[in-house]
Amino acid sequence: MNDRDAGGIAAQSTNTSDPYYRSGTYLRQKHQLAGTRYVQWVLDLIPDWTAATILDAGGGWGRYLWQLLDHERVDGQNMILTDLSEGMLHTAFEEAARRTISLKVSRCNLEALPFASRQFDIVMANKVLYHLQDIPRGVEELARVVNRSGVVMATTNSEKITATIIALHYQALETLGVPFTPEAPSPFSMENGGELLAARFRQVARHYYEAETLIRDAGEVRALYETIGRYRNLLPRDDISTEAKQALPVVVEKLAQNVIDREGVLRSPELMGAFVCSDPV
Ligand SMILES: C[S@@+](CC[C@H](N)C(=O)[O-])C[C@H]1O[C@@H](n2cnc3c(N)ncnc32)[C@H](O)[C@@H]1O
Repeated sequence: MNDRDAGGIAAQSTNTSDPYYRSGTYLRQKHQLAGTRYVQWVLDLIPDWTAATILDAGGGWGRYLWQLLDHERVDGQNMILTDLSEGMLHTAFEEAARRTISLKVSRCNLEALPFASRQFDIVMANKVLYHLQDIPRGVEELARVVNRSGVVMATTNSEKITATIIALHYQALETLGVPFTPEAPSPFSMENGGELLAARFRQVARHYYEAETLIRDAGEVRALYETIGRYRNLLPRDDISTEAKQALPVVVEKLAQNVIDREGVLRSPELMGAFVCSDPV
């Protein structure tokens, strides 16, 4: 896919180094399995989207923009999707074609947004800031491109819980004797993100989202596991045997089944949320 411009906006020749994000296929699948409850909760934090000019920075395959088009009265021509990954934008174009709508996109790094200052009423940075090399620089860019009376929405995960699917992943690695190093703490979480945003916004409101899914079918856990980055990023690795790679989803399903057999249900708690920022410095 060639770089595509949105309204004369230059795309940059960068790409993401995370192999999981080279295509949007698995992220889209993961989001489709997860449903839209959380996304709608995020969108409801802003009372009126109707006439706003909207930037979704690091927006992936467009999960939030599709929800806006489906459930809020927004004009698709007022929205721009950006992402560092060409493959992610390719998946967004596939989705746009399926819906027969034209989508404005720009491939760019969130740390250097190719937009004029004060151009947007609403700017989103959903689950992307923790990927940046220079988070303060990214926050500065978000504060630059939003209107003085506009809003920046930044969503992320909480560090207070480990998602069930991730816990099962580590248990499966242990079961198969695959060595792993535990993840470093997130550089932008619900717990530490507020301070980073407060450097560029006078108002930062933190909203937690808490939910729990009860799973009774271990097959669903396996289907979800096969879409997540932690698993997919292991697949190209030479230091892990093909047998172990193939066995991982099977072991995850078995571990989930053991819990369901024992307790009747597998609980999958979620803790994440959103920062709503206004009054840019
Ligand atoms: C977890 S996904 C979130 C996608 C979307 N915002 C959502 O919530 O559905 C992270 C996205 O950030 C993108 N990304 C990573 N680093 C980036 C950067 N420096 N600038 C712009 N996008 C970036 C990835 O390509 C990926 O699409």
